[in-house]
Amino acid sequence: MRPRPEAKARAFAALAAAFLVFAACPARAAEEADLPALRELFRRPPPAVLPPDPLRESRERLGRHLFFERLLSGTGRMACSTCHDPARFFQDDKPRAVGVFYRTLARRTPSLFDLGEVRPLMRDGRAASLEEQVLMPILDPNEMGQTEERLLAQLGRVSFYREAFAAGFPGEGLSRATLARALAAYLRTLESPRTAFDAWVEGREDALEAKARRGLRLFAGRAGCIACHHGWRLTDDGFHDIGLPSRDLGRGRFDPERPFAFRTPSLRWVGARPPYMHDGSLPDLLAVIAHYDRGGIDRPSRSPLVRPLGLSRAEKEDLLAFLSSLSRPPPDERGGIAE
Ligand code: HEC
Ligand code: HEC
Repeated sequence: MRPRPEAKARAFAALAAAFLVFAACPARAAEEADLPALRELFRRPPPAVLPPDPLRESRERLGRHLFFERLLSGTGRMACSTCHDPARFFQDDKPRAVGVFYRTLARRTPSLFDLGEVRPLMRDGRAASLEEQVLMPILDPNEMGQTEERLLAQLGRVSFYREAFAAGFPGEGLSRATLARALAAYLRTLESPRTAFDAWVEGREDALEAKARRGLRLFAGRAGCIACHHGWRLTDDGFHDIGLPSRDLGRGRFDPERPFAFRTPSLRWVGARPPYMHDGSLPDLLAVIAHYDRGGIDRPSRSPLVRPLGLSRAEKEDLLAFLSSLSRPPPDERGGIAE
C-alpha cells in the first residue's frame, strides 16, 4: 500500500476508540456494542491518490518484474511469487513454506497485502522496513539460497534489467540497495480488494446478514477479539502469545519478555487464506474459533486477553459468519446477500 499521511493518526484514533469500547463496556457493551461506532473503528482509509511520478512508476514496474524473477534464487527455480502467489492472496496453501531443495521452513508464508504502514515486519518483527525485509528471503540459504554477488552478476547480464535499473535509478543503476528499493516499491502497491464488510462499514446495511452482525457484536464484545484485531486491517500490529502449542519463540528471540508472541495478522480476506497461524497449524476458521474458545495453553506469557470463552455453538457460527464477511467481495449493486 502507498503511504498515506493521515493513516497513522487514524490508526491511533482507532486504537484509542477500541480501547474505550473494550474497557468502558466489558460484557454488557459486548452484546449491545454500538454498531455505528464500530463502523468508524473499521473504516478503510480512502485509496491514496499519488501524483503521477514516472520515476516511482518505473521502480514499481521493475519491482514487479523482480518479484516473478527466478534468478533471485540460487537454483534459478524459485521466485518470490512461488511462495507469495498472487492468485492466493500472495500466500501458498502449505502450512509452512517450502524453500530451495524442498526444505520446509519454520513458518507459514504470510499474505503481502496492505504492508505499506506495517513496522516492524515479519511474524517476529525482525525486519525494520520493507527495504530491509526483501533481501532476507533471497540471501537465506534455506529460502531462496542466492548470494548477493551472483545475483547482481546474473541480473547485470540481462539487458532488460540494465536498462530498467538505469531508468528507475538514474545515476545509481543496479545494486543491492536499488534492488531492495524496487521490490519494496512494488510491494507498497499491493492493496487488498474491498469486501462485503467494507460495504457495510460504508453504510450498506444489506451487505452483512444478521448472523454476521451478531458475529461482529461478539467479536467486539464478549469474545474480546477486537482488543488485538482492530483498525481497518483488523490488527494492532502488536506481538502477543495466544497460547498455541508451537515451540517457536517468535518475538521472544529478540525480546525475552515476549516468548511465543507473534505479530497479529491482518484479517482481511482471512477466510480465503487457510491454513492459519505462524505455523499453519489450524486448518480452517472453525479450528481458529475453537482455539480461542478453549483459550489455548495457560502459561505466564499468554495474553490475559486470551482465556476460555464458553461460546455456544450458535455463537461460534455467528463469529464464523462475521469472519466470512471479511472474505468475500461486496454484494453487487442490485441485490444484497440473501439471509
Ligand atoms: C520459500 C517461500 C518464500 C519465498 C520464496 C519468499 N518468501 Fe516472503 N515470506 C515467507 C515466509 C515463510 C515469511 C514469514 C517469515 C517470518 O515471519 O519469519 C515471509 C515474509 C515476507 C514478508 C513479511 C510480511 C509481513 O507481514 O511481515 C515480506 C514483505 C515478504 N516475505 C516478501 C518476499 C519477497 C519480496 C520475496 C522475494 C524476494 C519473498 N518474500 C520470497 C516465504 C517466502
Ligand atoms: C491477545 C491478542 C489477540 C486476541 C484477543 C485475538 N487474537 Fe487473533 N491473533 C492474534 C495473534 C498474535 C495471531 C497470530 C498468532 C500466530 O501467528 O501464531 C492471531 C491470529 C488470528 C487468526 C489467524 C490469521 C492468520 O492469517 O493466520 C484469526 C482468524 C484470528 N486471530 C481471529 C481472532 C478471533 C476470532 C478472536 C476472538 C475470538 C481473536 N483472534 C482474538 C492476536 C489476538
